[in-house]
Amino acid sequence: MKKIAVFLFTTILLFSNSYGQFSKQARDSIYKITVIDYQNMLNQLGITSVRPGANGNDPKAPNAANYDESKANPFPDLPDPLVLKNGKKVTSAKIWWKQRYQEIVEDFDREIYGRLPRNTPKVNWEVVEVKNDTVGKFQVITKKLVGHVENSLCPTIKVDIQLSLTTPANATGSVPIIMEFGFIFPPGFRMPNSANKPKETSWQEQVLAKGWGFAILSPYSVQADNGAGLTQGIIGLTNKGQFRKPDDWGALRAWAWGASRALDYFETDKAVDAKKVGIEGHSRFGKATLVTMAYNSRFAIAFVSSSGEGGAKLHRRNAGEIVENVAGSGEYHWMAGNFIKYAGPLTPGDLPIDSHELIALCAPRPVFISSGEVGDAWVDARGMFMATVGAGPVYKLLGKKDMGTDIFPQVETGLMDGDLTFRQHSGGHTPGPNWPTFVEFASRYFK
Ligand code: GCU
Repeated sequence: MKKIAVFLFTTILLFSNSYGQFSKQARDSIYKITVIDYQNMLNQLGITSVRPGANGNDPKAPNAANYDESKANPFPDLPDPLVLKNGKKVTSAKIWWKQRYQEIVEDFDREIYGRLPRNTPKVNWEVVEVKNDTVGKFQVITKKLVGHVENSLCPTIKVDIQLSLTTPANATGSVPIIMEFGFIFPPGFRMPNSANKPKETSWQEQVLAKGWGFAILSPYSVQADNGAGLTQGIIGLTNKGQFRKPDDWGALRAWAWGASRALDYFETDKAVDAKKVGIEGHSRFGKATLVTMAYNSRFAIAFVSSSGEGGAKLHRRNAGEIVENVAGSGEYHWMAGNFIKYAGPLTPGDLPIDSHELIALCAPRPVFISSGEVGDAWVDARGMFMATVGAGPVYKLLGKKDMGTDIFPQVETGLMDGDLTFRQHSGGHTPGPNWPTFVEFASRYFK
């Protein structure tokens, strides 16, 4: 078992950019504690072996990631979002909200992302700095905020949520905000050479050009990005430093919880039109973005970038990253412990729900599912597209417009007319080239 854990952990280290920030000593210690936490969860689940994840680095490996479409759908039948557990069809919005919606939420809570504790602590927001600044050619006001999480439940664990909010200096009233789950790079880190590429206008400038503002939330200030951190952060605080139970929340729900607390703050800040707050995130934070949008109906719109497995991609697919990767010791902390069951003894085909139903939980609000192409195959754009198609009937039931097709579009051809949208840019693992498309999409709602 240890061997499997070690293998999976090393695999994720290669992909992950959340470990670069730590010294070798700190990494060793995170690794050791993670293995203990992972083993504890396997013991609670009574699992003695899990299947290894797909290898994304070596196409010759026996478990090399699959990119052959003819082998990508081992479990072609998706659960129907519009059929109740008792077999009856969902024929009205009322039945959706009263019954089916609750059933789907319960399944996602228990099997995939985990449950929030019954009571989560209060967050006291403090404005620590207000600064006049410029972003490109725009004059802005930036507030730095810290959300102090009330910790009387476990005073040894301190959680201070880091958030910044930037609004146009010349705004005469409240403005829409796009909030990003910000990646945190180690000090001195430089993005791999983008020097030769024409510089895109930053997303912040694109947003400011519309007269909106932006916010950046630091997810790691809410919950660490590793299994060792599960007895700390907001998850550890509410668990009083104990191990998680199999249906307790994982990091994705914790990050989403942090985003909701930021939105609580926005509701108190006159600079923000809190009815028009969008959420955006890439990769693991693309997953967090979709989870945020699905679970919190106060978010107005979402830009879900390269979210892949654990995000918009169907769990039932075998292409690029698969359930077994996310269930391994390098990534399981994103999810509920119960999710590991589907990497052995169960299979992804045994999941009572799939990601199209996570997207459906966002209905009727607008959602943009997106990715790159070359260099972004790991996220399985087609699997994410299929999930977006699968959410369509729920959008339609609620009077909204789906993509209007189930034919996978060409790269750079956005399906942007409905409330449920999809686009693959031709670049790599980055949201960059999809920003202009998203900003135009959001303008339809942020008049
Ligand atoms: C890895 C991981 C993905 C994740 C990505 C990231 O590639 O397998 O699930 O989305 O890291 O967040 O960068």
